[in-house]
Amino acid sequence: MTISTDTDKFKAHRLSVAPMLDWTDRHCRYFHRLLTSQTLLYTEMVTTGAIIHGKGDFLTYNQEEHPVSLQLGGSNPTDLAYCAKLAQDRGYDEINLNVGCPSDRVQNGKFGACLMAEPQLVADCVAAMREVVDIPVTVKTRIGIDDQDSYEFLTRFVQLVSEQGGCEQFTIHARKAWLSGLSPKENREIPPLDYPRAYQLKQDFPHLTIAINGGVKSLTEVLDHLQHLDGVMVGREAYQNPYLLAEADQQIFGLDKPIKKRSQVVQEMYPYIEQQLTQGAYLGHITRHMLGLFQSMPGARQWRRYISENAHKPGSGVEVVETALAKIPYQELNV
Ligand SMILES: Cc1cc2nc3c(=O)[nH]c(=O)nc-3n(C[C@H](O)[C@H](O)[C@H](O)COP(=O)(O)O)c2cc1C
Repeated sequence: MTISTDTDKFKAHRLSVAPMLDWTDRHCRYFHRLLTSQTLLYTEMVTTGAIIHGKGDFLTYNQEEHPVSLQLGGSNPTDLAYCAKLAQDRGYDEINLNVGCPSDRVQNGKFGACLMAEPQLVADCVAAMREVVDIPVTVKTRIGIDDQDSYEFLTRFVQLVSEQGGCEQFTIHARKAWLSGLSPKENREIPPLDYPRAYQLKQDFPHLTIAINGGVKSLTEVLDHLQHLDGVMVGREAYQNPYLLAEADQQIFGLDKPIKKRSQVVQEMYPYIEQQLTQGAYLGHITRHMLGLFQSMPGARQWRRYISENAHKPGSGVEVVETALAKIPYQELNV
């Protein structure tokens, strides 16, 4: 499925799986897509430097992943425009600029969350990308950085990037980032979440598409946020408990279709696994994303353990997953 109309674009943003470095790679996105046909999937952040100078193809994805958004890291408008154009040519449905990552490595490259302090540069980056692509160019950001955490700081950022850059869609990770002193992990846990601030932003910029991110753990919470905003992005919970996505098509997007069983999703991975293994992929790189599928079900621990202990062995194939599935009690396979 590809995004083709404005209505579809709007709909896909109702729910998305966050960009997560080392987690939301193409194997993970293929697996998530089996659970939900509608949810927007984000790539891991890819830097412009990697795309332009790196060895290898950083834009590879499976056609089944649509709608899929490429998250770029960078702050040079020319480089970003070049990469955005490449991504559009490769069929990505959206480009997202990372203005939220607080890691030191990212700050040294002058991109990520530290760009919140430079709204004019972000506007220039977005404008440069929009000039060369037709797909949406969106921004993922925080509610503030360090001591620059007033609502006025956030609104000035959004106003400039939307008015001068032309950005129409923002995802707000509803906590600020401390640029020094906290690790990226701590920066996802310690600064408190402030959902009302993101709600206020939507009230003050009703013409913009605003999605919220941070700490969302269930589809019920997603529906609550949708009372106030256009979209919800879920990160860690979608990765660690992917079956959360299994009812998204029905509950969030209103589709009338049966909910897949966990075992069905596992079996639907078999052809993909076999095809990827023949192309040189390594089983463990695919199955690591599936470990949380049976979370809090009887047999979950055996499932995880069998895969973890066996998927890395040389020559391991789909039979490892079949054996792991057989460890789930029979009655659980029907839910
Ligand atoms: C392992 C991991 C890697 C992440 N990598 C990125 C990234 O590449 N780009 C980005 O914008 N955010 C990244 N994030 C942050 C998430 O996109 C998200 O903003 C954050 O986890 C809060 O959402 P959550 O509470 O639903 O997990 C990462 C988070 C995790 C856990």
